[in-house]
Formats: sequence, C-alpha cells, structure tokens
Amino acid sequence: MQEEGQEEGQAEGQAGEAGGGRPIRKQRDQWTSRVGVIFAVAGSAVGLGNFLRFPGQAAENGGGAFMVPYFIAFLLLGIPICWAEWTMGRMGGRMGFHSSPAIYGAVAGKPRWRFMGALGVLIPIIIYMYYVVIESWCLGYALAYLTGSIDLGNDPSAYGERSAAWFGDFVGIGANGLGDGGVATSVYLWALVFAVNFIFIYRGVSRGIETFCKYAVPAMALCAVVVLVRVLTLGTPNPELPDQNVLNGLGFMWNPKSSAADGAWVGSLADPGVWLAATGQIFFSLSVGFGIIINYASYLQRDKDVVLSGLTASSTNEFFEVCLGGLITIPAAFIFLGAAGATGGTFGLGFNALPVVFLYMPGGAFFGFLWFFMLFLAAITSSLSMLQPGIAFLEEGLDINRHTSVTLLGLLTGAGSLFVVYFSEGLAALDTMDFWIGTAGIFVLATLQVILFGWVLGVDKGVEEAQRGAQINLPKVFRFVVKYVSPLYLLTIFALWSNQNLPGYIESLRQGGIPLVTVGVIVGVFVLFLVLVRIAGSRWDEEAAHHQG
Ligand code: PFF
Repeated sequence: MQEEGQEEGQAEGQAGEAGGGRPIRKQRDQWTSRVGVIFAVAGSAVGLGNFLRFPGQAAENGGGAFMVPYFIAFLLLGIPICWAEWTMGRMGGRMGFHSSPAIYGAVAGKPRWRFMGALGVLIPIIIYMYYVVIESWCLGYALAYLTGSIDLGNDPSAYGERSAAWFGDFVGIGANGLGDGGVATSVYLWALVFAVNFIFIYRGVSRGIETFCKYAVPAMALCAVVVLVRVLTLGTPNPELPDQNVLNGLGFMWNPKSSAADGAWVGSLADPGVWLAATGQIFFSLSVGFGIIINYASYLQRDKDVVLSGLTASSTNEFFEVCLGGLITIPAAFIFLGAAGATGGTFGLGFNALPVVFLYMPGGAFFGFLWFFMLFLAAITSSLSMLQPGIAFLEEGLDINRHTSVTLLGLLTGAGSLFVVYFSEGLAALDTMDFWIGTAGIFVLATLQVILFGWVLGVDKGVEEAQRGAQINLPKVFRFVVKYVSPLYLLTIFALWSNQNLPGYIESLRQGGIPLVTVGVIVGVFVLFLVLVRIAGSRWDEEAAHHQG
C-alpha cells in the first residue's frame, strides 16, 4: 500500500489575505495517506449499527429476504450518495471549506444552501450526544467481563431476567437522575469515554482521527474474527437440545422468512416496512447522509481519488456488517437461547441476550470481554467522525482556532449528552433523538444532498469533478441513477416512512414530558447553528472570492 503525500502539518490558524485585505484563518490539516482516509471513513461507518442494529433488523424483517431490499438500497442509494458526498467534500476542501454549510453554499453557488447545510452539522452532533452514551455502556460491559462483575445468579431460568435487570440498573432505565445515592459508575465511564473522544479530536484530523483509526479498524476486525471463529465452532453445545446448533443458528438468521400473511418469503417483499428498514439500515450503517463524508473528504489533497476510495470504504463496511455482524450475534443467541432468545431490538439483543450467551459459552468471560471491547472500538471510531464536522463548522463559522472550537463543542455536546444520561428513564431522551435525528433527519439530509449534486451542481459537472484523479471509472448508469432514481427512491421511502411512523410520534409529543423537551433541545441547537451560518456568511463570501481570484 502506498503512502501518498506528506503531512501538511498542523499549521492551522495561519492567516492568509482575503480579497479585502482581511486575514482569513486557514485549516491546513489533511489526511496523510490514502489508506488513512479509507480507514477513517470505514471506521466511521463500522459501528454499533453493524454488530447490533443490522442483525436485529435483518432477523425481524424477513431474514434472507431482507437482503433483497438491502442490497438494492446499497446499489441505488448508498453507493451513489456516497460518491456524491465524497466528490462535493473534496470540491469544498479545494475551495478552502470543511463544514457542510460552507461547502453546500460553495457547491451550489447560492448562499441559501448554507442554511440547509446546517443540517449536516446538527445531525452528527445530536447523534453524538446519545451514541457516546451507548459507547460508554460497551466499555462498561467490557470492564465488567474483565473483573467478573456481571453476576446472573445460579438459576438458568432466571438468567434472562437478571441480565435485563443488570442492564436496567447500569443505564438507569428505571428512573431519571445520575444514579442511586450519588454518581453511578456508568456516569464516570461516560465522562471518561467522552474525554477520550475529545483528546483524539483535539489532536486533529491526521494526528488524532487518522492515527487512531489505522490501529483501531484492524484491531476490531481481529477481535470480531476471533469471536466469529468461536461461534462457528460451537457445534451443538447442549446435546439435549440438538436443534440448537450452528447450522440452524445460521439458518435462523439467513433463511428467507415471510413477514407477510401469505406465508411465502417473497411476501415479505410486498411489505413496505421491510423496505423502510433496509433503506434506513443502509444509511445508518454507511454513515451516508450524515454530513460526515462531506467533511472527511474535504481534507483530501487536491485531485486525490474519490471513486475507488468511496467504494472501498463502503465495501469494507459491508464486509463487517454482513460477514461479521450477520454471522455472530443472532446465530450465537439462537444456539444457546433458541428462537425466542434470538429476537429483540438492538439493545435487547446486545445487552440482555448476549450476556446470557457468554455465560453458557465455553470461555465466555474472555469472549464477552473481547466482544464488548470490539464494540467499544467500533463505536469510538464512529463517534470521532460525528465531532469533526462540528469542529470544522465552529472554526469556520466563528473564525476561531481549533483549540477554542474544540472547547466550545465540548461544552455543547457535554451538556446535551449529560441531558441524555440524566433523563434515562425508559431511555426517553435517547430514543427521541434517535427517532427525529438518527432516523428521520438522515432521510431529509440525504435527499437534499442528492438534489444538490444531481440538480443544483448538475450531474455533468458532478461526474466530471468525481472523475478527476479517479482510479476507476464511474459506471455509466451513475448519472441516471443519481439524478433520477436516488431522489425518487428516497422521496418514496420517506413518504411511506412518514405515513407509517409520524402520526404516532407526533401524538406522543402532544403528551409533553421528556420527548417534548428533547425536541426543544434539538430545535434550540439547530437555531443556534442557523444564526451562526448567517453571521459567517459574509466572511465565507470573501473567502470564496479570494479563492476564485
Ligand atoms: N455508521 C455508524 C454505525 O453503523 O454504527 C453509525 C454512525 C456513524 C452514525 C456516524 C452517525 C454518524 F455520524
């Protein structure tokens, strides 16, 4: 693998002269190698979504049948939008911009797009506020395996209940607050994990994110492969239950199942819910539609390949998702717990069922540690990517240096994340953010992005830009797909999704309480960003003029 270019250094904060003689602060941080940026984007993509969310979604939505809409969404939405994002990001970087609002404005040539770009900062920052909390649970579980503190008692019939209770206590599901009679361990862990994220972010794009991902991504692949080998060699651990074996575990996950009334698996393809789930999973998993790739690609050196890099990062994500995530979680749960134990949402599967599985599994304490530590690594490479767009935006928007911008973002996300930790009853704050931002918001941003690329910038210009320096050719159908198919597909899926989900959620907001306050927090942060975009606008105009001149 070749190392390209040299480190341009961390010479941020240097001033250049703008058209009007006004000094403009330059962010000079860049990726130091091609492999580095691919690891960083893959690190962002590979996360809890691959190992917990994907298996749960696939098993609940038709098993093998789920893979049909899943791969269609990958080809028609995931890959095209990822290429559009990489291309626009690199383009923005060349013009001296790194945040979505500035890049949207520059790519569109119309200032009003900057306001839409503010979503590309809002989404990752809000997701960070709750994702870092789950990340700290993973570290907490890894440590609990290391110290042997997960005690599920001696009665196998009560393991499931005890495991759910342990999780509930750990995350404070029963009541709001910071833990019984003082600050609970989980809050210290949250603070630690939060700080670790900011240490890497403070070090910058190349010295922080790139360096960490270069080690963390291979390390998590290794941990996941070790756990996978363990699961696939389990055989039939309980001879009294001969059906609960590895092959049936894989079959439970992968045999096409019907989720429709006619009983035939193809019936599940007539169920819009399955298509919605598959599309949402593709976005969440690839980190496409979050405003992250646009930011990461802006640190590419001029004319470095985006087509092959984008495809490589996305394919790496699919390998982790389908080949590792898809073969571990559900089959392991089925082998020990049977069909009933192998279902449950993301948290039910990951934090309630799996601890019971590790209890039964030979060498379970070791594999439990390895598994949760791997989840922690996967989560941290993702959460770092949620912070960088915000850092770049504050630097660019307020014309401040990295140090100040990291501090400000730390205060903002610290307050928001503490809000999630505090209002833990029924995980109300976390769920509300995940619904409005992690699910609905990403559809909106992805749609805006694909319209910006295909219609506002124009597909011809976009393709020309993407091809510059590309190491493989874009497929010919890309133009047609990105201009017509992707936006229509997105709008249709979004309309179906809204129809199915919005009424219920709006109703729950009417009842007030934490969900309503959480939406208030989200709106407050968004308004703040819009104001910032407005203030920064004239400086960005100057800078754009400077770049053209
Ligand atoms: N793609 C990550 C995962 O699969 O867990 C999740 C994610 C990363 C969400 C980055 C949002 C984000 F900004």
